[in-house]
Amino acid sequence: MDQAMKQTLVNTAIKAAEHAYAPYSHFRVGAALLDDKGTVHTGCNVENASYGLCNCAERTALFKAISEGVTPKTGITALAVVTLDAPGFCSPCGACRQVIHELATNAVILLADRNGTWQETTPDKLLPGAFVL
Ligand code: THU
Repeated sequence: MDQAMKQTLVNTAIKAAEHAYAPYSHFRVGAALLDDKGTVHTGCNVENASYGLCNCAERTALFKAISEGVTPKTGITALAVVTLDAPGFCSPCGACRQVIHELATNAVILLADRNGTWQETTPDKLLPGAFVL
């Protein structure tokens, strides 16, 4: 996967974050993933007054993609995540790390900042010793 595609994914994640529904945390997160057919799927965090029902951007994007027919584990090439509301890279929460590990097993993970620069990691590095059933 070339640098231009990675930059496109990061830029798409930044745009997706603008759709965040985050009236409680005011912490807008966006995600964009590339599937093995070349389609990009986006997600944002969607909060709720019942706080435990908040859904992270990464899981929104992953669940959207899988529900639209993307193959779990092998069908996701890369996943970018970014927040608009902090200066640094967005680090996925523990729940998202577990979901990323299972659904985007082979993906390159791009942790981006709001200026569009990123660092790369992998699901295994994000969650060593992930739970598997
Ligand atoms: N959030 C994400 O969308 N992704 C993460 O990896 C970390 C946290 C969201 C959840 C909540 O809406 C807000 O950021 C503050 O925790």
